[in-house]
Amino acid sequence: MTALEAVETGDWVEAIGSQELAEKGRAVVKLEGKQILLWRSGEKIYACNNRCPHEGFPLAEGTMADGCILTCNWHNWKFDLESGETLVGGDALRLYPVREIHGMIALDLTDPPDTEVRAKAVEGLREAFAEHDYERMAREIARYETAGGDPVDVLNHAFVWAADRYEFGMTHAQAGAPDWIALRSRMATNRPAERLIPVLEIVGHLSWDAIMQPGPFPFPDGTADRFDAQALEDAIEREDEALAVALTRAALRDEGADALRAPLERASLRHYQNFGHTPIYLDKTFELLERLDAETAPAVLLPLVRTFCKGAREDLIPEFRSYAPTLEIWQSTGTDVPDAAHFRNQGVRKCLDLISGAGGDIERLYDQLLYAASDAMLHFDAEYRTHVDRPIQQNVDWLDFTHAATHLNASRKICERRPELWPNALLQTGCFLGRNATFVNWEQDVSQWAVTDRRAFFASVFERLLDHGEPLYIYPVHTLKLATALEEEIERRPDAPWAPIALAAMNRYVHEPAKKKHMRRTVTQAMKFVEAQG
Ligand code: FES
Repeated sequence: MTALEAVETGDWVEAIGSQELAEKGRAVVKLEGKQILLWRSGEKIYACNNRCPHEGFPLAEGTMADGCILTCNWHNWKFDLESGETLVGGDALRLYPVREIHGMIALDLTDPPDTEVRAKAVEGLREAFAEHDYERMAREIARYETAGGDPVDVLNHAFVWAADRYEFGMTHAQAGAPDWIALRSRMATNRPAERLIPVLEIVGHLSWDAIMQPGPFPFPDGTADRFDAQALEDAIEREDEALAVALTRAALRDEGADALRAPLERASLRHYQNFGHTPIYLDKTFELLERLDAETAPAVLLPLVRTFCKGAREDLIPEFRSYAPTLEIWQSTGTDVPDAAHFRNQGVRKCLDLISGAGGDIERLYDQLLYAASDAMLHFDAEYRTHVDRPIQQNVDWLDFTHAATHLNASRKICERRPELWPNALLQTGCFLGRNATFVNWEQDVSQWAVTDRRAFFASVFERLLDHGEPLYIYPVHTLKLATALEEEIERRPDAPWAPIALAAMNRYVHEPAKKKHMRRTVTQAMKFVEAQG
C-alpha cells in the first residue's frame, strides 16, 4: 500500500516527501497542470497556487511573516494562508488542502464546482467594480467564463450594482451597452478576447461613472397600487421622481416592462430636453432589456425614469424657445420639403419654420434632415475643438454633431411605432441643426473624407473600437453609437441621398478625434467668469 492508499477519500495526490520539504522549507511542484507552492512554516504546511492572483509572478519568491502571512514581493499583496483571505490586494489566492501521511505530503486538487467559481468571480467583480480596478474586472470576467459562464450574464449583476449610483439617472454607460453587446455578437470569431472586451467595456464604464459620483442615490421607496400610464407621464412632467418610480415598479410588478414603453416613448420626445438624450436612452434601454434577465429590468428602468424626471429642459431657454409654439401649430399638410442645403446657416427658428412647412411628407423630410445633420457634421469647423478664449457657449466639439444623427436614428424607431410623435422628433432635429449652424465652415474641402467601400469602412471602425486605447469611456461609446446608428440607417436605405455624406462625416469624425481636455480654455474661461462675477 502506498502512503496515499491510506487516504480514504478525495483526489489526493502525492506532492513531495516530507523530508525533502523539511530540508527546502518551500518547494514548487507541478501537478495536473498546476504550479503549486508548498511552504513549511513551523509545524504547519501550506499549499497554494504559485502564481500570484494579481499578475502571476511566483509566490515562491515571496516572504512569509507571522507564520502564515505570505507577501508577494512584486507589488506587496499579502495573503493569509491560514484563513485564505487576501489582506492586501484584491483577487483570492487558491489554497489546497494538505495532508502529511507516512512521510509524504499529499494535496487535494479537487476543483470546486463551476457554480462556486462563478459566484466567487462575481463577488470579486463586485469588489473590482467598486474601485474601478480595470485589470481585476478583466480577470474576474475571464474567471467567470472559464468556469462555464456566459460573460454577458455578469452584466445583470453590474447593472444592479450601478442602478442607484447616478444622481441624474442613466448615463451613456447603459445607453452604449446594447451596442457593445451587438458588436460582440458581430465580431465573435475565433479570437477569444472579443467575447470579453465588450463586456469589460460595459462593466468598466458603469463602474467609472459610479465612482465619479459620491453616491449612492437611492430611489424613493414605495410602489403604486396599480399602474397608470398617463399618471406616469404626468409624474415625469412634474419631475415627481417618487411617484414616477412607484408607478414604474407597479408596471413591472403587474404588467411587465412593455407596459412602460408607450408612456416613456411619449415622455422621451415630449420636449427638446437633455440635449436630445432622452429618445436615445429610451431606445437603447428597451434594446438592452432584451439582452438581460427580467429581474434586472428595475435596475435599468429606474435610472431611465430618473433621467426623464431630472433632465434639463433646453426648450425653455431662449435659443430653443420657438420649439413648443411651432409644435403647437404643426400641420400635417405642407409638402414643401426643403433641400438639405436650405438648412445651412439657418438659426433654430428658421430651421423649425422650414420643417413645419413640410409636415405632410415625413419620409422626404426625414431624408433631408438626416442629410443636413450629416452635412453639418462633415463641415464642423475644427477650430472650435481647440479654441481657448471664446465664450463658454462656443465650447463645441464632435459630440454636439454626433447627437443630431443618433437622436434622429432613435427617434425614427420610436416614431415608426408612434407616428404621432414625428412632429416632435423632426422639430427637435431642427433644434440641433439651428444650434450647430454657427459652428461649421462650409468653405473647407471635405472631398478627402469620401468613403468608397462602406462595408470595409464600418468593419474598420468596429475593429478599432475593440482596442480603442481611450482612457475615457465616453468617447469610444459615442463612436460606437454613431457607427451603429448610421450603419442601421444605411442598411435600411442603402441608396438614400444622405448616405455618402453621412459616411464621409463619420470618416472625418473618426480621423479627427475630439480634444479631451482643455486646460488653457478651462482656466481662461474660469478667470473671466470670476472676474465678471465681481
Ligand atoms: S504579482 Fe503579486 S502582487 Fe503583483
